[in-house]
Amino acid sequence: MNKLISLIQKTEFNHSLTKSEIIELFKNNECNGDLFKAADRVRKKYVGDEVHLRGLIEFSNICKRNCMYCGLRRDNKNIKRYRILPNEIIKLAQKAVGYGYKTIVMQSGEDDYYTVDKLKYIISNIKKMDVAVTLSIGEKTFEEYKAFKEVGADRYLIRIETTDPALYAKMDPGMSYENRKRCLRDLKVLGYEVGTGCLIGLPDQSFESLANDILFFKDIDADMIGVGPFIPNEDTPLKNERGGDFLTSLKVMAITRLLMPNINIPATTAMETLNPRGRTIALESGANVVMPNVTEGVYRKLYALYPGKICTGDTPAHCKNCITGKIITIGRVISASKGFRVKA
Ligand code: 5AD
Ligand code: SF4
Ligand code: FES
Repeated sequence: MNKLISLIQKTEFNHSLTKSEIIELFKNNECNGDLFKAADRVRKKYVGDEVHLRGLIEFSNICKRNCMYCGLRRDNKNIKRYRILPNEIIKLAQKAVGYGYKTIVMQSGEDDYYTVDKLKYIISNIKKMDVAVTLSIGEKTFEEYKAFKEVGADRYLIRIETTDPALYAKMDPGMSYENRKRCLRDLKVLGYEVGTGCLIGLPDQSFESLANDILFFKDIDADMIGVGPFIPNEDTPLKNERGGDFLTSLKVMAITRLLMPNINIPATTAMETLNPRGRTIALESGANVVMPNVTEGVYRKLYALYPGKICTGDTPAHCKNCITGKIITIGRVISASKGFRVKA
């Protein structure tokens, strides 16, 4: 136990861990409090008390992929599909800007309806609003990523999901781990701020595998890392699996903060789905970003990645007030900037 405490202390200052040291931290729970407090101190020292809010627009739940864990997978016939049209997406962004959000995140399934031209139209119009634009729309070619960058896209989120090639092949049938890594490389080369992350608690995922995920994040020097528990969805082949737990997810996040002190780390929606104070706890264990939903009306419920997703019955205005209250209550401040990664 003393060994673990000195390991955490060392990491707080040198931001480096070996694979076996990460596994040790996972295996033991006696020092979790010290781990979370150290991650909180590193967060404060490097990225400060500001919390960056990113307004999330879930603009289409149509997806050509078939990820085993995801409710939007193409074989799921139990959900009603929707697409928000380009001009309506721009209007939602305008409203989000009105709520004070300085970043708009455009997220969807992999839906080819949104051609490069349509996406360029949407991105360039949102960029006129003096905000950062983050895309989270899946695997594209280098040329497509380049076209979005040229009209002003700033950031791109694409989780690696797992760095275990065999598990990846099982979880994401028809997709290639190598292509996923190619996407991350292309995005870096093009000058995007790149966000990735993993799911925690996938079937047969080991601590070693999670340690590899964390070392991968550091190895590619990701600018943002979003992690969350896998939550089994009734409408998927993984409906009878156990899913991830809150504590392990929090530990992955905290260890990532120790190793990558100046990156942006969101307190994710899935964390709050497993624990009613999940995002607050995450913000006090290394996180410095929240992504409140700005999707409106019926669409929110239909963006059903996993069951129990928070905020599905709430309005953008309600979420803005709700999350602002939570942040202020713990003595943190809402950032007024676009919230790019701070320089080391
Ligand atoms: N539980 C938790 N997260 C999920 N995602 C997809 N399905 C689930 C699930 N059942 C996550 C994936 C994806 C992100 C948009 O949502 O990690 O990258
Ligand atoms: Fe599609 Fe993304 Fe869901 Fe996979 S995780 S099925 S790519 S929306
Ligand atoms: Fe949506 Fe709290 S952030 S209800």
